[in-house]
Amino acid sequence: MNVHVYESPEELAGAAAREFAAKAEEAIEERGRFAVVLAGGSTPKAMYGILARDYADRIDWSRVHVFFGDERTVPPDHEDSNYRMARETLLEHILVGSVHRIQCELPPDEAAAAHEEELRDFFGEEEPPRFDLILLGLGSDGHTASLFPATSALEVHDRWVVANPVPKLDTTRITLTVPVINAARSVVFLVAGEDKAGALKEILEGDADPREYPARLIQPPGEPDWMLDRAAAKLIQRTA
Ligand code: 6PG
Repeated sequence: MNVHVYESPEELAGAAAREFAAKAEEAIEERGRFAVVLAGGSTPKAMYGILARDYADRIDWSRVHVFFGDERTVPPDHEDSNYRMARETLLEHILVGSVHRIQCELPPDEAAAAHEEELRDFFGEEEPPRFDLILLGLGSDGHTASLFPATSALEVHDRWVVANPVPKLDTTRITLTVPVINAARSVVFLVAGEDKAGALKEILEGDADPREYPARLIQPPGEPDWMLDRAAAKLIQRTA
């Protein structure tokens, strides 16, 4: 179990930025590019800001190709857009090799199909695509990306990107599917805040039904890395 606990959200963000840079260097050295999926929500903002501020000259950003784990069905300039959050914290400040936005101005099913097409263009027909790093957050309900408890996307194994109706949010989200996330060379969860402690306990030390805690479905070959702050980890017995 790769669980790492940091004293504060700031320390977590700094460590996550260092991990991002290390994975980028390794991928660029070995494969000439770094295909990375950014997490949405609020937790990764501090990390993206550190990358923009402190790593401009420490990563060959021209070889970094940015994707998104999920997106809300809002335009790219909407305050809820994960793309907008990443643009404001990182992508406006650093010129990267390419950015692959999920086009949520399209109807959900079309947005998902268009994004899957864009992934196929980038990765070719390797099945499923192998991202070098996928960053994920965790909801207090155990969701990750937009894989929410008891939603249809949890069962999809023959597509890479799907539109996922989320009744409890009265919305539809676009999300990478479990097989794509589990094919990644590295998966890192960034989790901060006491409100995540209960879900973390269930996911890391419980035997909860993965349909109730979808983050349990994320089981890449080398296991995910869990980077937590002390508040989120307060109920976890076993940590590195
Ligand atoms: C989203 C994210 C989602 C997020 C968690 C945690 O679109 O909201 O992809 O999976 O990572 O909900 O969000 P916070 O970091 O805001 O707690």
